Amino acid sequence: MHVLVVGKGGREHALVWKLSQSPHVKRLSAAPGNAGTARLADNVDIPDSDTARLADYAEREKVDLTVVGPEAPLSAGIVDAFTERSLRIFGPSAAAAELESSKAFAKRFMTDNHIPTAAYRIFENPDEALGFVKTASFPVVIKADGLAAGKGVAVCSTLGEAEETIISIMVEKIHGSAGARLIVEQHLAGDELSVMAFSDGKTVVPMIPAQDHKRAYEGDSGPNTGGMGAVAPVLFPRPGVMDRIRKEILEPTIEGLSAMGRPYVGVLYAGLMLTDHGPKVLEYNCRFGDPEAQVVLPLLRSDLVEIVLASLAGELELAEVEFSRDFCICVIAVSGGYPGPHETGFQVRGFGRVNWKEVEIFHAGTKHVKSKTFTAGGRVVGVTAWAPELATARERAYRNIRHLSFEGVRYRADIAEKYLLSIREKSRKAHA
Ligand SMILES: Nc1ncnc2c1ncn2[C@@H]1O[C@H](COP(=O)(O)OP(=O)(O)O)[C@@H](O)[C@H]1O
Ligand SMILES: [Mg+2]
Repeated sequence: MHVLVVGKGGREHALVWKLSQSPHVKRLSAAPGNAGTARLADNVDIPDSDTARLADYAEREKVDLTVVGPEAPLSAGIVDAFTERSLRIFGPSAAAAELESSKAFAKRFMTDNHIPTAAYRIFENPDEALGFVKTASFPVVIKADGLAAGKGVAVCSTLGEAEETIISIMVEKIHGSAGARLIVEQHLAGDELSVMAFSDGKTVVPMIPAQDHKRAYEGDSGPNTGGMGAVAPVLFPRPGVMDRIRKEILEPTIEGLSAMGRPYVGVLYAGLMLTDHGPKVLEYNCRFGDPEAQVVLPLLRSDLVEIVLASLAGELELAEVEFSRDFCICVIAVSGGYPGPHETGFQVRGFGRVNWKEVEIFHAGTKHVKSKTFTAGGRVVGVTAWAPELATARERAYRNIRHLSFEGVRYRADIAEKYLLSIREKSRKAHA
């Protein structure tokens, strides 16, 4: 088969890497890809937003299967456009992807389908939102309705912060039309985790749970980023919680969408908070998480092509979806200044010193000129390692990321640290 991956980040490199291991795949392309995908696939110089050119390419080059990484093309209807031209593509339709592209839609959907989520109000007018927060108890969480590249959410501890956030979203329109509506919701306390699942529209098969590290600096401080690192599996959900997540969240989501005539085929991502009252949905995404994909795909033992084909055929229940029992960690090296303004175009050095038996490196914001690699984005590369013990995987990732250098390089030194300490604490207690 000729398989095309749409996108250019770390998630897409991990997808290309995983797909390249399938005996079904004879040819791989990535559009537009990055310096990492270029080593395993043909990079095609078409932006992920140019649906018509992507479909032309798929037709001309006899692409048998297209796998879409990012949310923007899904929300813009790439799956609908390909399907109309009888091109096989994996991902939800624009109607099903509204679960991610409109947080207000997702909230109403959850209410209608009795799916646990934070209490909320939706506002289309800044004065009403401002009036509402005057009487709220803090903290509250304020969210722009539409896609805002991970920058549309603020946890507000004071009335002043809430007022500023409402004004910046609805009056100053810092996220453009994504802020035409906003949601004010109850702040939930607990452990956060990401559960991704394959779906064929009827059957939903969860992957192992993962945890992202959103904040820029150690100790979960600083501004939110696209993700500074991740770990999987996270085992802290108490026994029975994964079952509840499937029964109370994933299955009713797939059933609810199907009942609305918007069957969900693709990867469904539930961002969850494990509260004292059970798991609750913070948000849905309509695709693999980035960086969660980089820690979940390496542990997927089954053939991804077969899972995707089974999903597209409506036969996911027949597919084998198995994970190894290892732990996987990914530490992301970012450009100086990220998530704020940052320069790019610096050479990334040190790949020759990496011990490739210990790690896999997934490129995110990179491009290559001849055989050299240069920075091309905020998140540059993710150093990924897996092993039977989390401590070993962590050591491998950190031992090797030190070899990589580029002007301004930075990474968090504490990815999976808290989790590792909690595992050690538990085993200490078990042996005491
Ligand atoms: N109701 C909530 N209570 C506590 N924290 C929240 C809540 N909603 C969102 N957050 C925090 O804000 C982050 C971003 O919110 P999310 O809804 O995932 O939006 P996005 O990923 O689109 O920015 C979450 O990962 C979580 O840490
Ligand atoms: Mg999120």
